[in-house]
Amino acid sequence: MTTVGIDAIEIRTGKLKLDLPNTFAPEKGDDPEKYTKGLGLQDSSFPDVYEDIVTMGANAAKQLMDRKGLSPSEIGRIDVATESAFDHSKPVSTYIAGCLEQVYDGDFRHANKGERKFACVAGTQAIDDAYNWIRAGRNRGRAALVICTDTALYARGDPGEATQGAGAVAMLIDEDPDLVALSDDQGYGSMDETDFLKPNQQFPSVDGKRSMQVYLARMREALEDYESVAGKIELDDFQYAPFHTPFPGMVRKAALLAYRHVIRDTEREEELAEEIGRQPREDEYEDREAYEEAIREHMDELKDTEQYQTWYAKTVEPTLELSSKVGNWYTGSVHVARVSALRDAVEKDLDFAGETLLVGSYGSGAQAEIHTETVQDGWREEVEALDIDEQLAARYDLTWSEYEDVHDVHEYDEDVGHEMIEQFTTPSEEFVFTGWGRMNERQYDYVE
Ligand code: COA
Repeated sequence: MTTVGIDAIEIRTGKLKLDLPNTFAPEKGDDPEKYTKGLGLQDSSFPDVYEDIVTMGANAAKQLMDRKGLSPSEIGRIDVATESAFDHSKPVSTYIAGCLEQVYDGDFRHANKGERKFACVAGTQAIDDAYNWIRAGRNRGRAALVICTDTALYARGDPGEATQGAGAVAMLIDEDPDLVALSDDQGYGSMDETDFLKPNQQFPSVDGKRSMQVYLARMREALEDYESVAGKIELDDFQYAPFHTPFPGMVRKAALLAYRHVIRDTEREEELAEEIGRQPREDEYEDREAYEEAIREHMDELKDTEQYQTWYAKTVEPTLELSSKVGNWYTGSVHVARVSALRDAVEKDLDFAGETLLVGSYGSGAQAEIHTETVQDGWREEVEALDIDEQLAARYDLTWSEYEDVHDVHEYDEDVGHEMIEQFTTPSEEFVFTGWGRMNERQYDYVE
């Protein structure tokens, strides 16, 4: 059977940045290390006044199509994953296709367009849809464009304000991919939860601490479900573990839990037992409370072992590099983590084709998904083609009062139009938001 997977990726960050330790922390009266060490964040990306989910998504998609030399006739499907949509009916993918049709010969009338929603896991679901469409032989030789695009803004003063971000990831899903092939096997952990939601409101209602517990619980279920079809996962089975990264500190917690799970009943557990004892087993304790207390103590010790720290530094920490510089991109976040991992492999000059990634996606509400990906021969060229370092270096560094203005511009309830404050950067060769049309639709132009 032919392989199906991600052929190419392009990333587009919002063009502004908020420096968390130096600009955000002093205003909040917080120790900067709460952000750098606690949450693991340095900066958040924000959209300039002429940017939004459509411009970022369309700009990422154009960059991808240009680099791969694609024309609209070669794309049979455009799915957008977002939790920042501004329309309950017309999907963002139609706006993005409309933008792209301004600059390419031909059109996307033949392409099936949609919008996927399940909080941050929707991008992975859209990849699934594309995978299934291709595997079913319904693609007529065409590839699918999956675009994850979000402005992850929280209400001012919400604890989540520190974890904001904005950006888009465009991915081409195709047969014989250049970057990674997707495994047939998948695992799910899915349950009706109210940890993070936006019931007809722009900014989320979040129970932050609970959302972290739910992330860990659903991810564990997904791991077990994956193992029920693919067999037990061993530590040496995968080189990197890119996980959904709302903020790096979250993945730090998930990694410890995953490590504990994966080494249980293995030689590695026996080796560690000499230092910190075996992992507590529930049937050895009188009640659940005593067991959980023992687990907490064991995890604290496990975290400090050399074995764990070496594994974490090699397998997980490199996946957090971009996230620490851009914040949460919701649907794009796990895909940014994958790119971070692949960039690390380039930097270390690894001979990486054929190696495996263990990919963990999560969306509040809540659902986790685990699958593996096999790195393909063309991976290095794809990763080296990314210009994300240049984009990050070019971001405008907001002062606090500029941040307040930008937040107001992007907040629907504030009467601050995008034309009311000066843009911070100058658009060039990109799609920009220009205002509203007669039916309150958003409008876009391409700036040369
Ligand atoms: N030095 C080092 N670490 C520090 C610190 C300092 N001076 N001050 C605080 N920290 C640590 C805390 O111990 C905590 O780490 P821990 O969880 O490992 O103990 C971390 O920094 C965050 O501090 P906390 O006080 O818990 O932050 P908060 O209550 O302001 O909010 C979230 C944290 C994550 C709950 C909040 O940002 C949020 O709601 N985010 C959105 C929801 C989300 O993304 N959920 C994830 C699931 S998708």
